[in-house]
Amino acid sequence: MPQLTPQQVIESQRTDWNRVASGWEKWDQFFDDNLAFLNHRLVSDAHLRRGMHVLDLGSGTGYPALLAAQTVGSGGCVIGLDLSESMLTVAERKAARLGLNNVTFRPADVTTLPFQASSFDAVISRFCLMFLPEIPQAVTEIVRVLKSGTYMAAAVWSVAEKNPYLRIPMDVIKQFIDLPPPDPTAPGIFRLAKPGELAGMLQQGELHDVTEQELFSEVQFLTPQEYVASLMDIAAPIQNLWAKLSASQQRDAELRILQTVESYRRGKILALPIAVRIVSGRKSV
Ligand SMILES: C[S@@+](CC[C@H](N)C(=O)[O-])C[C@H]1O[C@@H](n2cnc3c(N)ncnc32)[C@H](O)[C@@H]1O
Repeated sequence: MPQLTPQQVIESQRTDWNRVASGWEKWDQFFDDNLAFLNHRLVSDAHLRRGMHVLDLGSGTGYPALLAAQTVGSGGCVIGLDLSESMLTVAERKAARLGLNNVTFRPADVTTLPFQASSFDAVISRFCLMFLPEIPQAVTEIVRVLKSGTYMAAAVWSVAEKNPYLRIPMDVIKQFIDLPPPDPTAPGIFRLAKPGELAGMLQQGELHDVTEQELFSEVQFLTPQEYVASLMDIAAPIQNLWAKLSASQQRDAELRILQTVESYRRGKILALPIAVRIVSGRKSV
């Protein structure tokens, strides 16, 4: 398959995430229950304090921007950036419901940040950087907009083998159609999964005190059907692969997924393991 240009990647990301925004709103409480610990970890690793100005990259429906806004309080402010206007509309609704008036959401591309140098006291990002066509350029931009001595912290998916939650449908889809071996440098869910990959880019970008930790957890479901429905509603990259199957292949593939997830049953729940890399760094003083 010919490689997409950076602009084509950006456009397809925008289309993909706009398409699934209503799914993210539908499953919001469910995923917040399962993944909120990551927001707390990012807020901690980026050293957020009251009064700070914070930038959240690829904020989607507001994670971790909303927690950041609660943390910095009314004397601080948070800007959540995302390509997808529809995801940001959901984030705005949630911010209004929470009574937060110190967070704003702006459509923009993370690789060309529309801010002056040294504008922010921290940059945070959850599950966005691996979808960028030019990650080192984004790192340069992050360093540019950070004030000296301040931190960035990002969460990205770790390797597929440790993420049955995401891997199961991909493995099943591959049983039905030939997928070309993934280009390890192409944007996608596991683009920054390798140990040291993002950390190395931060070091190259001249961030200091770079740390990386792999966190293990699980996403819990009541039924296999809940697992399939939620993932298909929100996971734009998996939806794209699913669309390559015929209707009868989709029916068979769904049955196989439902059977496979049963092996993750723990009593009344299904507990699908996830592994996430948390990477942080500090701009020199
Ligand atoms: C998996 S979602 C994560 C959303 C949110 N941070 C969360 O963890 O719930 C990935 C988000 O990254 C955004 N994104 C992808 N490429 C981007 C880019 N170049 N600039 C800004 N946002 C981007 C998508 O629009 C999408 O909302």
